[in-house]
Amino acid sequence: MKKIIVAIDGYSSCGKSTMAKVLAKTVGYIYVDTGAMYRVATLYAMRNNMIQEVEGQKKVDEPALNQAIEKGEIQVSFQLDPQTNLPLACLNGEVVENEIRTLEVSNNVSFVSALPFVREFLTQQQKNMGKKKGIVMDGRDIGTAVFPKAELKIFLTASPEVRAQRRFDELVAKGDKDVKFEEVLKNVQERDYIDTHREIAPLRQADDAIVIDNSNLTKDEQNELLLQYFKQAVEK
Ligand code: DC
Repeated sequence: MKKIIVAIDGYSSCGKSTMAKVLAKTVGYIYVDTGAMYRVATLYAMRNNMIQEVEGQKKVDEPALNQAIEKGEIQVSFQLDPQTNLPLACLNGEVVENEIRTLEVSNNVSFVSALPFVREFLTQQQKNMGKKKGIVMDGRDIGTAVFPKAELKIFLTASPEVRAQRRFDELVAKGDKDVKFEEVLKNVQERDYIDTHREIAPLRQADDAIVIDNSNLTKDEQNELLLQYFKQAVEK
């Protein structure tokens, strides 16, 4: 059967990765979470004190981060979890899957991912990953910048409140007792703003993308819908 590239873009905490993982597993494709790659780069910057707050504004030490990338000091990769068979994000070979999902990283990642040299570095890796097709990749610019020729493009959306509630439930389930819904909602809204307003590869729907609003869909319903679109795209 013909192999294709599936690009899934959309706002933060829309359930893109949940949907992408299920499809990849069902059809035997590789799954790549590009948000995790931007989070890994952000974690590196945080660990190396490259993000400071100056007068209430986040400031990234761009020359230092750029130099670290150029020197090859930031290796972003994935390792398969032997139990779940799902990819775990790694920074220089260390599994950092839990570390990159904290609210601290979420609060910094939009600033790091807006930097042109960071995008260039990670976009190139993403393009290489798709050379053989048979891939489901999710992010913000997959259908527009990484794979503008992807055979199937999905733009996933849901209301900010629905997305904040899902993220909040996830953090609580992970044992975060101090998390406040208002804070999570604020983070979702801030990221939406930054992701859609940045100069390079802003989040936007590709002209040929199929829009799915999953505010009122169950996971099963959205997975079924995606599988139908996938089958149509493969048969084209
Ligand atoms: O999908 P996520 O919430 O884990 O993504 C984290 C951040 O990374 C998000 O705020 C925007 C950025 N991102 C991006 O700029 N481009 C991508 N392809 C994926 C994520």
